[in-house]
Amino acid sequence: MSTLVTGIGELVTNDPALEDGPLGVIPDASLVVEHGHVVWTGPSSEAPDADERVDLGGRAVVPGFVDSHAHLVFAGDRAGEFEARMSGARYDGGGIGTTVAATRAASDDDLRARLGGLLAEMRRQGTTTVEVKSGYGLTVDDEARSLRLAAEVTPETTFLGAHVVPAEFAGRADEYVALVTGPMLAACAPHARWVDVFCEPGSAHAFDGDQARAVLEAGRDAGLGLRVHANQLSAGPGVQVAVELGAASADHCTHLSAADVDALAGGTTVATLLPGVEFSTRSPYPDARRLLDAGVTVALATDCNPGSCFTSSMAFCIALAVREMRLTPAEALWAATAGGAAALDRSDVGRLAPGARADLAVLDAPSYRHLAYRPGVPLAHALELPSVRA
Ligand code: NIG
Ligand code: FE
Repeated sequence: MSTLVTGIGELVTNDPALEDGPLGVIPDASLVVEHGHVVWTGPSSEAPDADERVDLGGRAVVPGFVDSHAHLVFAGDRAGEFEARMSGARYDGGGIGTTVAATRAASDDDLRARLGGLLAEMRRQGTTTVEVKSGYGLTVDDEARSLRLAAEVTPETTFLGAHVVPAEFAGRADEYVALVTGPMLAACAPHARWVDVFCEPGSAHAFDGDQARAVLEAGRDAGLGLRVHANQLSAGPGVQVAVELGAASADHCTHLSAADVDALAGGTTVATLLPGVEFSTRSPYPDARRLLDAGVTVALATDCNPGSCFTSSMAFCIALAVREMRLTPAEALWAATAGGAAALDRSDVGRLAPGARADLAVLDAPSYRHLAYRPGVPLAHALELPSVRA
């Protein structure tokens, strides 16, 4: 079964082989899908025949968003914490404990229903690949359960047992790290592709550089890829540890020294920026322009979670990145698609060239520029194709 998607006013391929800069834009385009993969892209005037035809009436098509950082297995609600922040309270990660208590008390079915609801919400807004972290269980069984549930919906599962030190280990962070790197990792690694740690020496709840290194090295020895919550609340060792250990991504990067930018530029670690967090914690935005100018690969993700940022909208993050972080609309879209794919070490998503997955986001707009130009307007949705379902 092949499908010709035609009437595409503007197709963003992210195909570097095409002339038009990194986005590889084809105007008046068509695209052919077979067995869930793109097999042809080009001008509509040259399109081949196919078994079925879908006409998009001049809408723009972009690669489905790759949201490479999200915390979607949780119960409870922290709207009150958000409200307090908007009245001046500071975010320090302490509220994570509230979500841990609610998540431990929730049934599998409740967690599964919330997770499914958030994924559907993301898909309705154009996200077709999502990474899902544990980190609200913080016992061997609760972390393993979170990852089992996450693995039901995505291959991009991340063990975040080192999210915060749970209340029952207060004052005994090193003992908790021993649990995370020992029995908890053993129970979680079979369900995870990645390991992550909240490296934030400035927070009373998170982990310092040595503890982060211990968690990452143990995860690496168990066969997991590495990601780090780095430099969110203050400049610290997170980015340097991430680059040194060859992590796929250092996430947040809100407070970077010149040495941090140099380290990222000299390494292979993607800088994943999460502007929804700065928005929702009323924090200064990182300067994405400075990273791009230094040659760093930048990704954008939502960090969708009940505490620091409860948005599921990649389009909102694109608009923030353009308005507040000095990315161009083209750079922000690339970061939200190809950048996210790079942060997850994936070459089959984040682009729409032959061989890639047929993950299409359709915009109710003539151009990708509208994603930033029309903030808050739900323009993007994932395209469902019969030939992809088959
Ligand atoms: O990425 N920084 C740590 N973890 C999350 C927040 C989780 C929460 O507040 O519940 C983050 O911002
Ligand atoms: Fe996060």
